[in-house]
Amino acid sequence: MNDADALFHRAIEVMPGGNTRSTLFVNPHPPYAVKGQGASVVDAVGHRSIDCNNNYTALIHGHADPEILSAAMDAAARGTAFGLPTSYEIEMAELLSTRTGLQRWRFCNSGTEAVMMLIRGARAHTGRDLVVRFDGSYHGTYDGVVASDAPGVPDSVAAASIVLPQNDLDELEATMRQYGDRVAVILLDLMPNRAGLQPVTREFAMAARTLSTAYGALLAIDEVITFRLGAGGLHQSYDITPDVVSLGKIIGGGFPVGAIGGRADVLDAFSPLGDGPVAWGGTFSANPVTMAAGLAALHRFPASSVATLNAKGNRLRDRLVDAGLTVNGSGSLLRLIVDDATAMWWRLYEAGVLVGTNGLLALSTAMSDEDIDLIASRVINTIRGRYA
Ligand SMILES: Cc1ncc(COP(=O)(O)O)c(C=O)c1O
Repeated sequence: MNDADALFHRAIEVMPGGNTRSTLFVNPHPPYAVKGQGASVVDAVGHRSIDCNNNYTALIHGHADPEILSAAMDAAARGTAFGLPTSYEIEMAELLSTRTGLQRWRFCNSGTEAVMMLIRGARAHTGRDLVVRFDGSYHGTYDGVVASDAPGVPDSVAAASIVLPQNDLDELEATMRQYGDRVAVILLDLMPNRAGLQPVTREFAMAARTLSTAYGALLAIDEVITFRLGAGGLHQSYDITPDVVSLGKIIGGGFPVGAIGGRADVLDAFSPLGDGPVAWGGTFSANPVTMAAGLAALHRFPASSVATLNAKGNRLRDRLVDAGLTVNGSGSLLRLIVDDATAMWWRLYEAGVLVGTNGLLALSTAMSDEDIDLIASRVINTIRGRYA
């Protein structure tokens, strides 16, 4: 039994299926990471891969980035969490306001929590219940956004969502005609990973904006993954202004994070200065270590770096497509489309490329041009060899 099997045998005694994150399970069990450095990750049997998973898109500068570590350690040395706010959260809110133009911010510890609070805030603001969202878009594990037939979700919760096909303008218009005055929020991911990283069309995004305004509902853009694609998120390239956005992943610099940002009057639902505010606690919300690490990561990822990384991703995608592979996505996010994602995952891992279990690749600024060349050749050889 090797070290990874031994770890799994211990894990399965104390965790269901030996697992605590369904999203990273691969049969028979995943390898165990022991060290990440820059663009590479080493597992418990000493196998080294180029990390194109980057903790499911969260690590924009790869692993153990010295500046981020130093900012986090400096914050931690002054105290990791307080029963008082700190200036770090103000600085983060200021930075996000500058980058997005959205006026008000609140922080939590995951994208799931951000979407959950976004929906509650939208309901409180509009006094309505219904959420319109789109098939195949993943918004985390909160009851109100998982598949309506998912085990454990009450019928009453499922009934508060209307799930429509993405990019189907007629369906969206018909739904808003019928239910528009009961809709609190249209929740849109502009390039949903689970739906294959197929971008929403411009026309559809514009229609979602126009229809939500016309019916007095809010337009929310879930930018938990896509925030890395633009200095203020992917929505900026669609020329739409959402009423509220959810963020997570890269804004924590590798530490747990979530946030919502939006119009002042919408976010006022949470203001303790208002009457009947929506409660928002979170023992570790806006903790200084996450905020300091996130600030360091974002300061190192200005518009010019966003553009450079996206261009790298576009060049890699072009090379893969030119080699005959099917690859979706845009900029620094790529999605390999194959028949058997699990088999591909293992073959790529053995070849030294760590991707998401669904074929997702997320580039980091830690990747050199040589890394990109290696990714291209390993992916092409693996997929051509096994799936051609
Ligand atoms: C678009 C989107 N929203 C929300 C989430 C949930 O974020 P978290 O995993 O931090 O809870 C994810 C996670 O991948 C996501 O991709």
